[in-house]
Amino acid sequence: MKIVALSNHKGGVGKTTTAVNLGAYLARAGQKVLVLDLDPQANATETLGLNPEEHTSIYETMLGQGDISRLPVATNLENLHLIPANADLSGIEVDLGADEHRLARLHAPLQNYKAIAPYDYLLIDCPPSLGVLMTCALAAADEIVIPVQCEYLSLIGLTKMVDLLNEIRATGVNPGVVIEGIVLTMADGRTNLTEEVINEVRQQMNSIAYDTVIPRNVKLGEAPSHGKTILEYAPDSKGAEAYETLCNEFLQRHGAVLSA
Ligand SMILES: Nc1ncnc2c1ncn2[C@@H]1O[C@H](COP(=O)(O)OP(=O)(O)O)[C@@H](O)[C@H]1O
Ligand SMILES: [Mg+2]
Repeated sequence: MKIVALSNHKGGVGKTTTAVNLGAYLARAGQKVLVLDLDPQANATETLGLNPEEHTSIYETMLGQGDISRLPVATNLENLHLIPANADLSGIEVDLGADEHRLARLHAPLQNYKAIAPYDYLLIDCPPSLGVLMTCALAAADEIVIPVQCEYLSLIGLTKMVDLLNEIRATGVNPGVVIEGIVLTMADGRTNLTEEVINEVRQQMNSIAYDTVIPRNVKLGEAPSHGKTILEYAPDSKGAEAYETLCNEFLQRHGAVLSA
């Protein structure tokens, strides 16, 4: 099981949208996918059609009390399971804020789980802050995928993520973590600004920026309120097409041989 964190400390850049929709297309391609919702706001949980308050989050596991293998629940999509989030998770910031071993709190249980988990990919949907939950995710992941909104100042946020990862590596908890890719999101094809940001990210981060750019698409914005991924809500939309293409690119990067 490969652990991939969708992370950017900026909110509203498309982390959750990418986690659930990349997850949906990976699952449709036959990959066994587990999404870990690590945001107390539980947007991924709701988009996947589940009620956060009816499920157990990873909270107890991070406090050393839970058995992670009991947490995944099925979603409406075959091959796509979810460890839901709920408001309990916000307690982690307080409970572990002063814990000197906090970076191991997700790393350790996930390392144990990796060997037995019946999944190809674990996609972690990170919260939009630099708090304990987010740093624990970076410390637990094999790879980071950073969604970046096509707007002014996005690159500054990107630099901060690179610095943060260097700090995490330096702690020794997760020295091998890499930035697997950058996904440009919410591109508005009509503006010069979008084009400038895309060019700048490609220049600075060329080898890791995905060729696929996710356009701004009304259906992508609507799907979560229906408790649906774009694959279920509007499979013929431009947004769906983009996430399917992203999925293929992701699989190719991970060594899959795709039939045409
Ligand atoms: N490509 C897109 N086109 C239109 N709306 C989008 C797109 N990507 C995300 N959104 C919407 O923008 C908001 C923020 O996206 P989200 O994925 O929740 O960001 P994050 O998880 O980084 O906070 C959500 O309401 C989402 O539905
Ligand atoms: Mg989110």
